[in-house]
Amino acid sequence: MKPAYYVTTPIYYVNDVPHIGHAYTTLAADVLARYKRLKGFDVFFLTGTDEHGQKVEKAAIAAGETPLELADRVMKRFQSLWEKLEISNTDFIRTTQERHKKGVSVLFERVMEKGDIYLGEYEDWYCTPCETFWTETQLIDYKCPDCNRPTEKLKEESYFFRMSKYQDQLLAHIEANPDFIQPKSRRNEIISFVKEGLRDLSVSRTTFQWGIPVPGNDKHVVYVWFDALTNYITALGYPDEQGNFGKYWPCDVHLIGKDILRFHTVYWPTFLMAAGLPIPKKVFAHGWWTVEGQKMSKSLQNVVEPNMLVDKYGVDAVRYFLLREVPFGLDGDFSHQALVHRINSDLANDLGNLLNRSTAMLGKYFGGVLQAPGEETDLDAAYREKTAAMIGQVDGFIEDLAFSRALQAIWEVISAGNKYIDETAPWTLAKDPEKRERLATVMYYMLESQRVVYSLLSAFMPKTSEKGLCCLGWPQAPDAGDLAWGGLKPGTPIAKAEALFPRIEEKAE
Ligand code: ME8
Ligand code: MG
Repeated sequence: MKPAYYVTTPIYYVNDVPHIGHAYTTLAADVLARYKRLKGFDVFFLTGTDEHGQKVEKAAIAAGETPLELADRVMKRFQSLWEKLEISNTDFIRTTQERHKKGVSVLFERVMEKGDIYLGEYEDWYCTPCETFWTETQLIDYKCPDCNRPTEKLKEESYFFRMSKYQDQLLAHIEANPDFIQPKSRRNEIISFVKEGLRDLSVSRTTFQWGIPVPGNDKHVVYVWFDALTNYITALGYPDEQGNFGKYWPCDVHLIGKDILRFHTVYWPTFLMAAGLPIPKKVFAHGWWTVEGQKMSKSLQNVVEPNMLVDKYGVDAVRYFLLREVPFGLDGDFSHQALVHRINSDLANDLGNLLNRSTAMLGKYFGGVLQAPGEETDLDAAYREKTAAMIGQVDGFIEDLAFSRALQAIWEVISAGNKYIDETAPWTLAKDPEKRERLATVMYYMLESQRVVYSLLSAFMPKTSEKGLCCLGWPQAPDAGDLAWGGLKPGTPIAKAEALFPRIEEKAE
């Protein structure tokens, strides 16, 4: 039986349309999912939309729609973007689905039955855009300390979750599991937050309607974060604890942006502890994208629309750029210039050119038919070993979610390939009839190394990988067993490859 692997993205709010920030998290999750499948895992990859709460209700009113009409419309934009970006999710959950609402009610009830949810009264400062209550001392000039927007004082009857009760247990869990919260800086941030003391958390609202009713008291709707976080288990069939839940829970990794770290590493684990359910193995919070040096915002009209990028540059260029440009975990800046530069130098020059040169030479020297390699020289051995070492390096980097380093490791082998050609100078070998065997060996090493490269690239750039492998006479989907050296069989016809990534005029951008 294949080992199970479960990876999730946040479920995105439907009051905003998808931009590169959302695409980034989902792409990273897709690379993980594809890579784990390549390695033989049985992967469940979940994404979806967060459709309840006051924010969505307000956006719907402003758009002259019902919240569900808004959700239906925007949810489709997320789904069509994911198709366009070749996202290979297993499921797409919407919090308005029956399966989800049922699971949330059950979870709420179980925690209530345990005595960890009680009815009380709330008075505090509320930030609607963040759906978060703040104490007066946390506010900065009466504005939200997270987003700097005005807050309002709200007093309402509310159900509370006894989060304070789980402070020690949570801290002990974080300390005993150094990998639970990543990167390390984020882990330290949460440790200090928890040490300052956890207050009980308001987990219901009475001031609006758009949500899941509290079981047994439909004056209240369940707090949107209690509702949203539960998607990670309702999509697995919870409250049915057999089936997918039994197979995939606890989750291997929740990928999120740093903006929603506390919800995932304080609220969510304590809800699960109260319900007696296992805690996710890892939460990784990546950094924040700005655009040409500025915060992305509707009012600045600088929101980068991924559909437009894909139409202009192609899906794999966008996938490559977002994961290569910025180390996962750090903040990054998007610019068209940087994107075009990456396409020209990494994709057109390094990757595309190598395939192009090497297949053209095989055509010219051997009529496009791969020959058996002869004796291996030190130069050949070094290139073969470098290719083999890359497999382990990429594996380690992906395990650490260091996507840009994984790509760097692959590109080192691509550069080594271009250097290998320059050093072996096949055009000189070709002039000497006695060097036929040497020439055949060089051709084989060049092409076989690229076969391994394109196999690993299947996680990052599925179309490019498929095209490259097909050119190399490898029409089938790669799997982990295919990574070993020597896969290409002599006698295989290999046609000259067309340019995978045409250069883009840099000035025109
Ligand atoms: O928070 N840079 O949804 P959301 C990088 N519904 N990542 C970005 C980004 C940027 N500029 N902007 C958005 C919610 N993201 C809740 C989540 S989960 C149970 C509920 C990404 O639509 C990043 O992953 O505001 C961030 O965490 C997420 O979008 C927030 O999406
Ligand atoms: Mg947000």
